[in-house]
Amino acid sequence: MKQIKFLEVGMKNFGPYIEEMIIPLNQNNLTLITGPNGIGKTMIIDAIPFSLYGTTSKGKKGDDVVNNVVGQNCHTWLTFTSDDVPYRVDRYHKHSKYGNTVVLTQGKKELGKGQRDISPLIETLIVPQRLFMNTLFFGQNIKTFFTDLTDTEKKEIFRKILDLDKYTTYYDETVKRLKELEELKNQISNELSVKDTLIPTFKKQIELLHEEEKEFYRRKQMILETYERDLSELQKVIQNLTSLLTTPVDDLLLTVNQQIADSRSALLNIKQEEDNETSSLTNAKTSKIYELNQKSQTMKDEAKQEISKQFDELSKVFDDKILNLRKAVEELQQVSTETQVNYTRLSSKLESIEIQINELTRNVMSLSICPTCLQILNEQNKTNLKKKIEELNQEKQKLDESIKQSYSKKTGVLQQQLDKNNELKKVTEEKAVKFNEQQTTLTGKYREIDVKHQALLVELQSRSDQAQAEIRKKYMEKKTTLEKTSVSLFSVKQKYEAQIAEQKRIQVSIDENKSKLSSLLNTIKEKTEEVFDKNRIELVQEKINSIQTEIKELHKQQQLYYKQEEVLNFWKSGFSSLGIPSLLIDESIPFMNERISYYLDKISNGRYTVSFDTLKAIKTGEYRDKISVNVLDNITKANSRIQLSGGQTRLVDIGTILTLCDLQSTVQNVTFNLLLFDEIFDSLDDENIGFVSKVLKELSRQKSLFIISHVYIEQLEADNVIALR
Ligand SMILES: Nc1ncnc2c1ncn2[C@@H]1O[C@H](COP(=O)(O)OP(=O)(O)OP(=O)(O)O)[C@@H](O)[C@H]1O
Ligand SMILES: [Mg+2]
Repeated sequence: MKQIKFLEVGMKNFGPYIEEMIIPLNQNNLTLITGPNGIGKTMIIDAIPFSLYGTTSKGKKGDDVVNNVVGQNCHTWLTFTSDDVPYRVDRYHKHSKYGNTVVLTQGKKELGKGQRDISPLIETLIVPQRLFMNTLFFGQNIKTFFTDLTDTEKKEIFRKILDLDKYTTYYDETVKRLKELEELKNQISNELSVKDTLIPTFKKQIELLHEEEKEFYRRKQMILETYERDLSELQKVIQNLTSLLTTPVDDLLLTVNQQIADSRSALLNIKQEEDNETSSLTNAKTSKIYELNQKSQTMKDEAKQEISKQFDELSKVFDDKILNLRKAVEELQQVSTETQVNYTRLSSKLESIEIQINELTRNVMSLSICPTCLQILNEQNKTNLKKKIEELNQEKQKLDESIKQSYSKKTGVLQQQLDKNNELKKVTEEKAVKFNEQQTTLTGKYREIDVKHQALLVELQSRSDQAQAEIRKKYMEKKTTLEKTSVSLFSVKQKYEAQIAEQKRIQVSIDENKSKLSSLLNTIKEKTEEVFDKNRIELVQEKINSIQTEIKELHKQQQLYYKQEEVLNFWKSGFSSLGIPSLLIDESIPFMNERISYYLDKISNGRYTVSFDTLKAIKTGEYRDKISVNVLDNITKANSRIQLSGGQTRLVDIGTILTLCDLQSTVQNVTFNLLLFDEIFDSLDDENIGFVSKVLKELSRQKSLFIISHVYIEQLEADNVIALR
């Protein structure tokens, strides 16, 4: 059996609790929490469902529980073990570090964070919230208790305690599988109907194939007959063509080719001889021309030499004359220069004397002072001057005479010079005339030599042409004969070649026909060996066989599906609300009736009889979703919830919660170490308080019980009392 042990609950800034408050939960005894209204009794035990589910017994959530004075850092926590594995839930609100969140840890390992993550984990580990509130926590708000719940709510608690939801899942799964099975069955039926129609089709195919086989052999016979005809035709053609290839022409062609080659080489020889003769003639002609040229040149050189010699002799005479004349000219030139100098000197002297005379004459006439010595001229002096002038005039006359002589000498020399130059010019011209004459003579001689030379060359050319013509004539005949032979040989050769080409063409045609023949023979062989593909019939037959096997298999599978369907239908009704869930509920009713009788017996000393039932009497076969609690006051005979007093209802509720707690333990195989009761004694008289206290005290031997009461309850004999002030 699974054991859930709550270890401790803690809170800080939770409701009225600002300071950290920790309550141990695993003491297995009875704790009474007491204190005046509004002191915070409920909040202490509310910290447990609040830590687990985020809601208090009154439905307070989140911000409602954060201490109003502090306004932040609300933190509650709960530690517990499940089969000794430790867990811890920490819930934070407006927390400066964690904000609003909840964390579930297993040992040191974080299992989840945030309400969405941990809610399913808590439900699995402990129980869902509504179950917790109806089996472990008897809240102050009695309206939420089992007897006052709606039918749907009761049903939900039952479903949870008896874990009936899983049957709905099984049911849905079974229905799903049945649907799948239905589809599979339909598939098989479809396949079967398709395959059933296939067999006659394939049988018809086999019949057609047999027909096709007959047709195949009939056609084969026809084709082979046609091939045989073609074969004999081809053989005839080959025979005819072969008969055309009788005379061999290749040897004849070889001989003609040889003859052509011989005649060609003879022709070449003749041409060679002719070329040789022609070239020796040309050589002789060339050397003769060379000789004539040499001779002509020699004659020209001799003539030139002779003329040069004559000219040299003549030149010498002229050159002597010219040299003498030039010398005479040069000498006359010398005399002329000297005469000119003397004349110039005399003229300038005469000029200076004339100046002196004029000066002296002017002075003698006008001046009394000597311009030279600046002495006063006296008569003596003047006379001396006049004498002087006289001497100068005489000297002037002499000079005039000398100048005249000098002038006539100068003129005579110039005339001589002129004459000599004319003579020189004349001699030079004569020399030139003589030279031209010589040149003309030489040119005449050259022309004579050239004329003779040309005549000799012409004669030589004519003789050479004659010899060349003779040579050509001599060889022409031979060449003509040979060329004629060659032409006739070529025409023979062409004839042979044409014959050979024709024979080749015939041979090609024979080869082609032979290859046609051999391919025809192959075709005939292949055709003869051709057989109808019986595999095709066998394949169709195999298909029929395999379809028949498949049909058998499908029938087997169909049977299997029918069986599976039967089994699934069984489980479908088993998992339906009328099946196992209904049985489980039915089975739990006696247990619950037994437990509630046990508790109420103790609580009310046998005054009240309470029983549960599922209203199966209403309509057999209808889903039993109505779970009713039947109450009977054995004294007043009041028999409905509405007829009972507040205190009576409370007793029934206490009995019910303890019963449900037992049912849960038994069905789910789980025990909890905790029971919480808030203001359980409200509306109870002392006697009933005593009965209830007794039962609770008994329960506290196995569990930790926390009882909240605004008044101190002595009958409880609490092990601990938390008195809040
Ligand atoms: N967020 C909060 N911040 C501070 N105080 C709060 C907060 N919420 C509730 N309280 C106070 O806590 C008290 C309610 O606590 P609780 O319900 O536990 O009282 P109680 O002792 O069970 O009272 P009663 O006997 O009437 O049931 C009230 O005094 C209320 O003012
Ligand atoms: Mg309270």
